[in-house]
Amino acid sequence: MTVDDMPGHGNDHKSVMRRETVDVFREFPGGIFLDGTVGAAGHAESILDAIDSIRRFYGIDQDEEALAIALERLRRFGDRVELIHGNFRSLDKLLPAGSGGRVGGILLDLGVSSMQLDRVERGFSFRNDAPIDMRMNRTSGKSAYEVINEYTEEELVRVLREWGEVRSPKAIARAIVRERGVEPIRDTGRFSRTVSRRIPERTRTKELARIYQAVRIEVNDELGSLREGLERSVEFLSPRGILAVLSYHSLEDRLVKTRFREWAKGCICPPDMPVCGCGILPSVSLPFRKAKMPTQDEIDRNGRARSARLRVAIRLEGERDPS
Ligand SMILES: C[S@@+](CC[C@H](N)C(=O)[O-])C[C@H]1O[C@@H](n2cnc3c(N)ncnc32)[C@H](O)[C@@H]1O
Repeated sequence: MTVDDMPGHGNDHKSVMRRETVDVFREFPGGIFLDGTVGAAGHAESILDAIDSIRRFYGIDQDEEALAIALERLRRFGDRVELIHGNFRSLDKLLPAGSGGRVGGILLDLGVSSMQLDRVERGFSFRNDAPIDMRMNRTSGKSAYEVINEYTEEELVRVLREWGEVRSPKAIARAIVRERGVEPIRDTGRFSRTVSRRIPERTRTKELARIYQAVRIEVNDELGSLREGLERSVEFLSPRGILAVLSYHSLEDRLVKTRFREWAKGCICPPDMPVCGCGILPSVSLPFRKAKMPTQDEIDRNGRARSARLRVAIRLEGERDPS
């Protein structure tokens, strides 16, 4: 049986680069495994099936609906598995005391799942009409309603520009502010119609996707979570522990690439310093310099895989400075 034939493939959420991700963890050094984005548990199931030396598997997700699905799917692994509701940015608080330095593998498969996008009432998709929410964690935080109706025009421009690389952020922000002046924008249908008036027909779908991505990233503070989650992850890895991150847009991938390279380099002295004065040692090695990408065959089967980038860092043995 191949990884793709394993039970659950063809579920609502098709796990991206499953085979490649499992392969990354073949050299798992033992101990605890942490899936920081367990979702529908597709990766989790394949990893647990493939790697017997996982003593304890923690699956974190900030979405309770996803955890309910993961619970069903991972039931057969019994008490090797524990699921935790929370944000991986606080994994130091979510994992049991004493886990630091004992985690042999961490997976972060970023962004939203197809299930979240497909659940109309979650308000993630411009293809449906639903209350505009977009929170992955529905038990806390601001929703897209607040971003769209309460941010100033300047703040909206920043969100659209930074998180969506939207083409005409000023015109779109102005249109949102004008429309919400009539009455608050409560649903995705009205939001999409409002912004669509400022987008040429031929680029509409692409731009709408970018605008929704921008609002979603802001609502869930996705890049802030990633930044903190990466730091906590490398602190918790054991020597030879493996960190794998699957990202889906260039903002995420750039952040991961930059941080991995900084860790692998260590020293932060200016290049013209004759000798190192900072004393910061490399803390990881990078088994491959470039990100791994999905095969064309996978992209043909699952369009969502198109933008996926898989990067891996392996914690070095010995002391390191975590700064
Ligand atoms: C792409 S899906 C993961 C799919 C999963 N790997 C699978 O194979 O089924 C991403 C999941 O991560 C969760 N998520 C995203 N950011 C998170 C964060 N900062 N902390 C915890 N969960 C997060 C989302 O709620 C979603 O369920």
